[in-house]
Amino acid sequence: MSEQNYLSVYQAAMTDPKAFWGDAAQGIDWSKPWDTVLDDSQAPLYRWFAGAELNTCYNALDRHVEQGRGEQAALIYDSPVTDSKKTYSYSELRDTVARFAGLLRDLGVGKGDRVIVYMPMVAEAVIAMLACARLGAVHSVVFGGFAANELATRIDDAKPAVIVSASCGIEVKRVVQYKPLLDEAVATATHKPAHCVILQRPQAQATMIDGRDVDWQSAQARATPTECVPVAATDPLYILYTSGTTGQPKGIVRDNGGHAVALHWSMKNIYDIDVGDVYWAASDVGWVVGHSYIVYGPLLKGCTTLVYEGKPVGTPDPGAFWRVIQEHQVKVLFTAPTAFRAIKKEDPDGSYLKNYDVSCLKSLFLAGERCDPDTLYWAQDKLGIPVVDHWWQTETGWSIAANCMGIEVLPIKAGSPTCAVPGYNVQILDEQGDEMPSGEMGNISIKLPLPPGCLPTLWGNEARYRQAYLSRYEGYYLTGDAGYKDEDGYLWIMSRIDDVINVAGHRLSTGGMEEVLANHPDVAECAVIGVEDKLKGQLPLGLIVLKAGVERDHADITQELVKLVRAQIGPVAAFKNAVIVKRLPKTRSGKILRGTMAKMADSQPYKTPATIDDPNILTEINTDLKSIGYAKK
Ligand code: COA
Ligand code: AMP
Repeated sequence: MSEQNYLSVYQAAMTDPKAFWGDAAQGIDWSKPWDTVLDDSQAPLYRWFAGAELNTCYNALDRHVEQGRGEQAALIYDSPVTDSKKTYSYSELRDTVARFAGLLRDLGVGKGDRVIVYMPMVAEAVIAMLACARLGAVHSVVFGGFAANELATRIDDAKPAVIVSASCGIEVKRVVQYKPLLDEAVATATHKPAHCVILQRPQAQATMIDGRDVDWQSAQARATPTECVPVAATDPLYILYTSGTTGQPKGIVRDNGGHAVALHWSMKNIYDIDVGDVYWAASDVGWVVGHSYIVYGPLLKGCTTLVYEGKPVGTPDPGAFWRVIQEHQVKVLFTAPTAFRAIKKEDPDGSYLKNYDVSCLKSLFLAGERCDPDTLYWAQDKLGIPVVDHWWQTETGWSIAANCMGIEVLPIKAGSPTCAVPGYNVQILDEQGDEMPSGEMGNISIKLPLPPGCLPTLWGNEARYRQAYLSRYEGYYLTGDAGYKDEDGYLWIMSRIDDVINVAGHRLSTGGMEEVLANHPDVAECAVIGVEDKLKGQLPLGLIVLKAGVERDHADITQELVKLVRAQIGPVAAFKNAVIVKRLPKTRSGKILRGTMAKMADSQPYKTPATIDDPNILTEINTDLKSIGYAKK
């Protein structure tokens, strides 16, 4: 039994962060020690473990082999959609990664160069990421559900030397051809990568472009393995683009040193996971959950990680997760509440669960969106284990609030991700920057410095980093979430303060969708709001004002708009609903009242803002929303 208690560990991290994280850093192998644990000389910009050198891939693979655990399973690929499975031991994974790193090096990739990875959920996606880390190159994984245009935006921002991709992904039974999307993206982008490495999958054969495209299998067979290249702790490991208020995504930068320390620490302290345990994050490597807990966290700790190419339902049935847990002896499962809502919808009584022995599963962690109490109770009731909602963001890379199962199990309050994780000084601030009394809503902010692992800046855009996160309250990081702290110090994350919505645990920008809709020739102006959805948590809904004189059929126009968002942003946006309205409600200064419309659509109480230009428009909108099944009460 652990002698620790949450409060004392939390206090230790607050009182002397340098000693606390310096101690945690003993879990990582460094090729050069740090000059200082925390460099605060450029505050409010901070750097962890300045002066130190390490290699993240060495810490994730080689050291485990050197410590005699080469035969242990490092990665299990389980793909119900292709009916295939493969296990890589630590030795095999290290050798495969070293060889793929050799291939990238032969294509000219070196320390600091960027490599975009646009891949489905196959083991090769993880291999490509680790190979970049091995070379000191910076990977940027782009989620497969994004369209060519989104990929092009990321190519122009990251300017990759090489792109690694595959011929296709498989969405249940639909084969999604990736190569045409990649070719279109490269054609659209101003920056052109020198090479694209393509994994040919049996389900689709990609057409190769001579001189540019390289076949993964044959080039890998010719490549020679490379050693790990030491990098500065403060050098970037990866860039991960995430949605902000506009269509231009933010390139979240992750460093090497702080990231390795934080993730390694989190495995035991938050997830109660030890070396050799099987840890499964049922997410996608295209999201931060995939980066941190499919790839880096479990491998840094020396666990077995799972790459699952399938869905919670339909591949083949709602027993899919239970089958994987039993078969691979999973100790901890991490997924989004949506996945459990999908299972619950198809198998409300949990009858599929009875066909499997899942006694190996010790806890279930949920994140990515607010976990509704119904889903939490259902999972708790069916599985009979702790169900832990925890709150974090792409920016932080690991959880800000959680019930730290490896420190002390605190009572669970459904709807709250429990308390701030050691290292995070979370405060609820009012408009003036004063702390709110407990129970009162405000802007959730974190007092600087952020702990190791959190973003040090935005890729190539420090000004946007300062403006978006550090300028609202001096000395604080603005999370973008609103909520409150209760009298026991539990956090309650209630809503976003910006135009970001969360669809099936995927973070999307309504501003980005509006930019696409506004390009349609018939659209005068538009607003996209997030409306409640029983399965996906939220769905986007477009409210469209047509240009004067447009007399076309409204259904035709809305269908075109749906297709446009799918083609420009991607199927992941799940934009399927739009309604034509006469006018949009605005304040006298011209700001569209998106929040008011969202509350109205969800039949929640709302106040008519005092600054509204014309209150009659709200009545019109109410009627329009009712006509498509919203604003029912
Ligand atoms: N490549 C191409 N298309 C993709 C894709 C990929 N990697 N991932 C998703 N898509 C497509 C889907 O096929 C779907 O297309 P459709 O509109 O033609 O049906 C669309 O994007 C939306 O995908 P998704 O959000 O996954 O919805 P779904 O209806 O296919 O499945 C769930 C619903 C709940 C089963 C699924 O969202 C899920 O498992 N979510 C929880 C787990 C998770 O990954 N969370 C992420 C953060 S932890
Ligand atoms: P992402 O960057 O995609 O991980 O999305 C981060 C955002 O998702 C957060 O800022 C929250 O708005 C939301 N979110 C993530 N986890 C939770 C949670 N456990 N509870 C409430 N909201 C969450």
